[in-house]
Amino acid sequence: MNTSAVSTGAGVTVRVPAKVNVQLAVGAARPDGFHDLANVFLAVSLFDEVTAAPADSLTVGCTGPDADQVPLDRTNLAARAAEILAARHGISPSVHLHIAKNIPVAGGMAGGSADGAAALVACDALWGLNTPRAELLDICAELGSDVPFSLVGGAALGTGRGELLTPVEAGTFHWVFAVADGGLSTPAVFREFDRLAEGREIPEPVASPALLAALASGDPDALAGALSNDLQPAALSLRPSLAATLGAGVDAGALAALVSGSGPTTAFLVRDPES
Ligand code: C5P
Repeated sequence: MNTSAVSTGAGVTVRVPAKVNVQLAVGAARPDGFHDLANVFLAVSLFDEVTAAPADSLTVGCTGPDADQVPLDRTNLAARAAEILAARHGISPSVHLHIAKNIPVAGGMAGGSADGAAALVACDALWGLNTPRAELLDICAELGSDVPFSLVGGAALGTGRGELLTPVEAGTFHWVFAVADGGLSTPAVFREFDRLAEGREIPEPVASPALLAALASGDPDALAGALSNDLQPAALSLRPSLAATLGAGVDAGALAALVSGSGPTTAFLVRDPES
């Protein structure tokens, strides 16, 4: 699942995947407020599409089931991506960005990050800039910790605050996602992680060799035994009803259940498409 661009007369459309974190190991809070992570991202076949079309000024539109929850001002990561790219090249960000939204908003599946990465690639193509990939990744890291992964897709280990990526091997897996009513704020979930961790020694986050081997093997039973998310207790603390959702998925036959990223979307690993 990679980010890809298609150009038409009306503009440039980029399709970008959502992600699930198959391991999210969280370290202690850093002096800059972020947390060091060992964050194993896996792109999934749930996509947003961002179309960049010529316009007199920077505007954002959005359609899709959650469209009413998407900010259409300069706080939208797609708009910020266009602004940063234009500023670096000394041009004006005259573009209309249309987001066809399928990824849950504030759901822990990097939907906002996906739109930021997609807008960056779409504007780069529309404006004919050919920005080197390393610079695009740099802009992505400026936009947010999960945005570089949205540019790269596939499967990757994110270290630092999640923005330093190393590709990892992954087989094909099948997931069911349960979307919650209302989002969870990522900073609030990290704050709750800190509160729950008070007085405890937090180990350095490291990628689990068993998880990486299971991911590469394509064996769903092995992956089911190796999934982990250190943010899950914090997400459950802020949204206790998620415990029942996780339990319902396991009762229905899922091999494993976990909160996706900072939640509240829950992810269920299943054996095959029929399940
Ligand atoms: O990087 P991003 O803008 O997505 O981060 C949103 C917030 O999530 C940060 O302001 C911070 O509170 C929290 N965060 C963190 N450690 C990370 C990533 C995010 O504490 N590695």
